[in-house]
Amino acid sequence: MREEWGCLSGLHPPKHPTIPESYATPIVMLIKEIMSQEGKPLVLVTHTLPEGWLNPLEEICRLMVGPEDAMELSSNLAENLPSAEGLFTLLTIPVDRALLERAPRLRVVSNMAVGVDNIDVEACTARGIPVGNTPGVLTEGTADLTMALLLAIARKLPEASRDARLGKWITWSPTGWLGADLDGARLGIIGFGKIGQAVAARAVGFGLEIVYHDTQEHPELNRRLGASFLPLEELLITSDFISLHVPLTEGTRGMIDAEALRAMKSSAILVNTSRGPVVETQALVRGLREGWIRAAALDVTDPEPLSPDHPLYALPNCLVTPHIGSATWRTRRSMAKLAVENLLAGLNGNRLPHCVNPKVYERD
Ligand code: DGY
Repeated sequence: MREEWGCLSGLHPPKHPTIPESYATPIVMLIKEIMSQEGKPLVLVTHTLPEGWLNPLEEICRLMVGPEDAMELSSNLAENLPSAEGLFTLLTIPVDRALLERAPRLRVVSNMAVGVDNIDVEACTARGIPVGNTPGVLTEGTADLTMALLLAIARKLPEASRDARLGKWITWSPTGWLGADLDGARLGIIGFGKIGQAVAARAVGFGLEIVYHDTQEHPELNRRLGASFLPLEELLITSDFISLHVPLTEGTRGMIDAEALRAMKSSAILVNTSRGPVVETQALVRGLREGWIRAAALDVTDPEPLSPDHPLYALPNCLVTPHIGSATWRTRRSMAKLAVENLLAGLNGNRLPHCVNPKVYERD
């Protein structure tokens, strides 16, 4: 059963054996539903998800669900933190110490995202709360979008499409909307985890030379993808395209700052599908305006959402999409499935299939 905004809704047909069907008025159904929920753990779900995505949870939990477009934990859910045993979150909801302190019974936090920078994982670990994420299932979708952005900005698709619509397509012009070539150019990938590697695999098909920077070199990947490891500075200085695939940590926050942007080629194109704060926004605005680099395509920004009057939108050499790296039906459905599995495992006292703080299990 699901409780949305504190109202009981989505009631299932009554099955109580002692009350005949003829008495099945809405109020009786409601009472039976409430009775059947007794003893079930309360799970707060921060956002409304499509019908059916939470079914396995609905059978064994009492769900309280927030609105589809919640920017923060809705007040109704926040009021119920003291009795919540599970928390199902999206990446826009900060799960910090203050929230955890209000949830003494919390036994599992399940993030429907691979990134967990919205969660104070250390604080969860200290409380013995396992935190789940959804790795793997969004790798291909995010890599596809990365290539889509890279191609779109390299070949000036937003500008060309807009100009055509505005009647600026007068004739075939030898110098109209000239973009950058991929074949033979160098793609520098910063962060060579699953998504970075999936981007490399695609980029090879476009004739790009792959270099990467990561916390360590991966000799096996060098062979398999024909990629070479480079120190960060060398990658920045020599790449024609730079694509970011690092998690947001204190070490990567602001990694692409004014100095990094100035180090890049003035013809370089930056693509970010990782996390907005990896790039210093003000430095990027300046870098794009003043031609430190040629262009940028961003699926993630700092802040998110970016208000419509933000200077980045006014720059013809910047393409912004609203954090849609994983936005395909199959990917989002798979993410929800993993997040539900993590949550159920946590409530049942089992190890989460995808746990970002396995240290919680070392304490037993
Ligand atoms: C994630 O899962 O971290 C992604 O950013 C969602 O698209």
